[in-house]
Amino acid sequence: MTAEYVHGYSSTEAGRLADQASTLTDLLHCDTSYPAGSLVLEAGCGVGAQTVTLARKSPGATFISVDISPDSLVQAKARVGAAGLTNVTFRQEDIFSLPFPPAHFDHVFVCFVLEHLADPGKALAHLGRVLKPGGSITVIEGDHGSAYFHPESAPARRAVQCLVDLQRQAGGDALIGRRPYPLLVEAGVRDVRVSPRMVYVDASRPALVDGFIRKTFTAMVDGAGAEAIRRKMIDAESWGKGIRDLERTAEPDGTFCYTFFKAVGVK
Ligand SMILES: C[S@@+](CC[C@H](N)C(=O)[O-])C[C@H]1O[C@@H](n2cnc3c(N)ncnc32)[C@H](O)[C@@H]1O
Repeated sequence: MTAEYVHGYSSTEAGRLADQASTLTDLLHCDTSYPAGSLVLEAGCGVGAQTVTLARKSPGATFISVDISPDSLVQAKARVGAAGLTNVTFRQEDIFSLPFPPAHFDHVFVCFVLEHLADPGKALAHLGRVLKPGGSITVIEGDHGSAYFHPESAPARRAVQCLVDLQRQAGGDALIGRRPYPLLVEAGVRDVRVSPRMVYVDASRPALVDGFIRKTFTAMVDGAGAEAIRRKMIDAESWGKGIRDLERTAEPDGTFCYTFFKAVGVK
């Protein structure tokens, strides 16, 4: 059920996830905190990039953070340990076969995972099963269709489209940010509220120029280059131009926009 994971598990990708998380911490997590005593499932925690923020913001809550990748879990444990956090337990589990009893968790959190799954609706149904009635589920996803930038560039758009196409071929959906509302409603979640979180970058925001344009978005697209070229979706020269044009938007006269979507609902 899990689609081939298009970003891979390299150390470069692990670093990108950490850069992404630290750049976007306030934007994505400012309004997420869980009451003391609550038990929270973080599904698809990866290398723990979001886990540190979650656990730090809710010191009285207990987190069970699961991922299908043992290598990522090793890194996640190290990251959370280095942050001195003791309220997280990591487990290697598949979202589609979670070994927890029904209604086990007070809250569920899932970030940048559904986009990689062939059946995100089914994943939400599995997550809903282990959530208590009245508990919340939070879903955060990006949508590569929301990326626009200056200077405009057809090669840059083509490179982004290659990533979207690769992810689709792998069974995922890089445009899923527009879908959490219907997916959650379909999964029986009620009171769903989606808040778009736009990242706007220009030279007056140097941390985002580096942290978002270069280290998050362009790094993510560039990570798909070798596979896109290997599958003859694009030639190496055009790919290089696309990446250079994305990086060009980080120059003093460039601008960049991208929107994440955060959905919260109640079982
Ligand atoms: C893009 S990473 C996001 C990690 C983390 N949530 C973050 O935002 O940094 C997606 C993660 O989902 C995990 N994943 C994919 N399919 C899964 C499944 N069926 N069960 C558990 N984890 C899964 C992958 O191993 C990967 O670590």
